[in-house]
Amino acid sequence: MIKTIFFEDNKVKYIDQTLLPLEYKVVSCSDVKKLEVAIKTLAIRGAPAIGVAGAYGIVLAALSYKGKDKGEFFNVILEGEKIKNARPTAVNLMWAVERMMGFFETIKHLKIEEIKKELISEAERIREEDAEINRKMGQHGHPLISTGDGVLTHCNAGALATSEYGTALGVIRAAVDAGKKIRVYSDETRPLLQGARLTTWELKEDDIPVTLICDNMAGISMRRGLIQKVIVGADRIAMNGDTANKIGTYQVAVLAKENNVPFYVAAPISTFDPKAKTGDDIPIEERNKDEVTHIGGKRIATEGIDVFNPAFDVTPAKYISGIITERGVLRAPYKKSIKKLFD
Ligand code: MRU
Repeated sequence: MIKTIFFEDNKVKYIDQTLLPLEYKVVSCSDVKKLEVAIKTLAIRGAPAIGVAGAYGIVLAALSYKGKDKGEFFNVILEGEKIKNARPTAVNLMWAVERMMGFFETIKHLKIEEIKKELISEAERIREEDAEINRKMGQHGHPLISTGDGVLTHCNAGALATSEYGTALGVIRAAVDAGKKIRVYSDETRPLLQGARLTTWELKEDDIPVTLICDNMAGISMRRGLIQKVIVGADRIAMNGDTANKIGTYQVAVLAKENNVPFYVAAPISTFDPKAKTGDDIPIEERNKDEVTHIGGKRIATEGIDVFNPAFDVTPAKYISGIITERGVLRAPYKKSIKKLFD
């Protein structure tokens, strides 16, 4: 089983996802600033995984303090809280750091060494709950998949994007475990190729049949009848069901509607943002232009040109056939079904 991020010997250990599939390397990190860089550079990526990383960031900040002054100790933790700003779109990062800080408020009266231990336990709970939630989503979601289906996914919403098992790929894993014979189609997912590099790698590790396509091949694949379902993950879901996910998801959803292919989102409840009424309230990260002008460090575009590089887009709720959560599959009207989650 692939374990993307975990805590061992007072260090955060994570798979460096910038190196896959050419190199599998587990990095040890004991510095919250370095962990923040790992999130920014996508060495750790995927909404639930960066949430877990954010929680561990608070732990690393706490452990870095070796003195005995509580005021100083609290300031070090407050400084560590800045890790929640490492990336703006995936709400799981803010959610997990805020959960840690809320918990910290309740244990402030304890001794410094006890606070450190309690923070480790809370971060471990966040990691374990994530793994459990993914399996629950798999159980709720796999009945949507039938033997013989071609299932298209975009980006990587797998074990690598979570603590383990995955959201969209968790549903696919559960379908395979239930004995269904399926084939996954993986969009390569330019510019950073999470589909080509990561989704194909982890499915191959699990012997799940996978076919790689370029992003512009989704249309022909649907028209030729290769795709019966689409399942993707999410970085933030607004209260009306509008869903931010990796750039290119929106066009897949439109193509799915045009071709009568059901389009599902799989995401834990921590990905819903009660503060976002619609997709317009979701901040979209824009990244460095080199990610578009270069592949693997090699320039592929004309020098000196303008580049637009949004890392995510928003799929309007009207294109979404269902949202698979750990509490079941939500259906339209989403305003109503999502509100129930928070009542
Ligand atoms: O930029 P990334 O690689 O962090 O983007 C990840 C995605 O868009 C995933 O699809 C999303 O986080 C869901 S992960 C279970």
